[in-house]
Amino acid sequence: MGAQQVTDRFTELYGTAPQGVWAAPGRVNLIGEHTDYNDGFVMPFALPHRTTAAVSPRTDGILRLHSADADAPVAELTVDALAPGTDRTWTAYPAGVVWALREAGHPVTGADIHLSSTVPAGAGLSSSAALEVVVALALNDLYGLGLDGGRLALLCRHAENAYVGAPVGIMDQTASACCEAGHALFLDTRDLTRRQIPFDLSAEGLRLLVVDTRVEHSHSQGEYGWRRAGCEKGAALLGVGALRDIPHSGLDAALARLGDEEEIRRLVRHVVTENARVRRVVDLLEAGDPRAIGPVLVEGHASLRDDFRVSCPELDLTVETALAAGALGARMTGGGFGGSAVVLAEETDVPAVTAAVREAFAAADLTAPRTFEAVPSEGARRLLP
Ligand code: GLA
Repeated sequence: MGAQQVTDRFTELYGTAPQGVWAAPGRVNLIGEHTDYNDGFVMPFALPHRTTAAVSPRTDGILRLHSADADAPVAELTVDALAPGTDRTWTAYPAGVVWALREAGHPVTGADIHLSSTVPAGAGLSSSAALEVVVALALNDLYGLGLDGGRLALLCRHAENAYVGAPVGIMDQTASACCEAGHALFLDTRDLTRRQIPFDLSAEGLRLLVVDTRVEHSHSQGEYGWRRAGCEKGAALLGVGALRDIPHSGLDAALARLGDEEEIRRLVRHVVTENARVRRVVDLLEAGDPRAIGPVLVEGHASLRDDFRVSCPELDLTVETALAAGALGARMTGGGFGGSAVVLAEETDVPAVTAAVREAFAAADLTAPRTFEAVPSEGARRLLP
């Protein structure tokens, strides 16, 4: 939704104009899945889809929240009473950010907030991170906190981990806060160094499609936590701080040491090979050879499907069908168990690839997928004034 519409709605709801309007995008991840809680590498980029927030600060300790996308009246909370784990609705995300800022010692004394989002929820495109980051950025500006994008991302992750109760890594919040238009973000999740990698596929006659399968499997949260715990156990068994510390050249030795821990071996193999794939994609893009990343994406999907086992029939169908219809590469993106896939294709093959995926879904009696072209877009920013 546009800044003006959000401003008008805010004024209707709260009786005065907002002090500003901010936006933060959703993301897709090009490569580097389930590596961010293993101190590894990721490579997301921001989508044009974004969450917009009109916000004014308050001095009386009241936090009022409203979303154009939730069918609910204005929620009124007291900042002093915010407590982790008590809210199971969408308001936990913005309230969690206020809680995390205050817990870190920042003097946030309330706000009126109206939100509106074009990031599809439940599609694995980081609608939660967009919501957190837009609120964090608005409060950072209004309260003059002076925090940079990386620091805001950390606070947002803390809100999601501790307040909402989801054990996610740092990728999505950093992507939303720090991405730049025309670039993918190469992020080292250990030291949080970032490198913007030019990623202009259309100049090369290529397209990256997002296919939102429209399925969301309900067990995904528990499965995510289980994978994360398994990776931590693997690192402990191997005597390293995180699986990031196992180099690709040391993979066979590490797997041998894990003996008959078959579940853990699979998790370790995925993380170690996935970190190597991120580096290969960075090298190929920097060498000006974007077509060559196709097979690397396909390998990544196979690893997530067979070793990490976070894919699902709808994602596998998307990937197989797109490749059979001529795509150069395809993989699931995000946490898995539903959500979206990314497909790399020649511009001229896009109609055929899209049609093939739609037909395959119809033939399997599945809800029609949502497909769109992913254009690397800018990260969070202030829109008004
Ligand atoms: C979700 C989490 C991220 C990351 C991905 C998997 O999107 O929020 O932190 O772990 O899954 O790569």
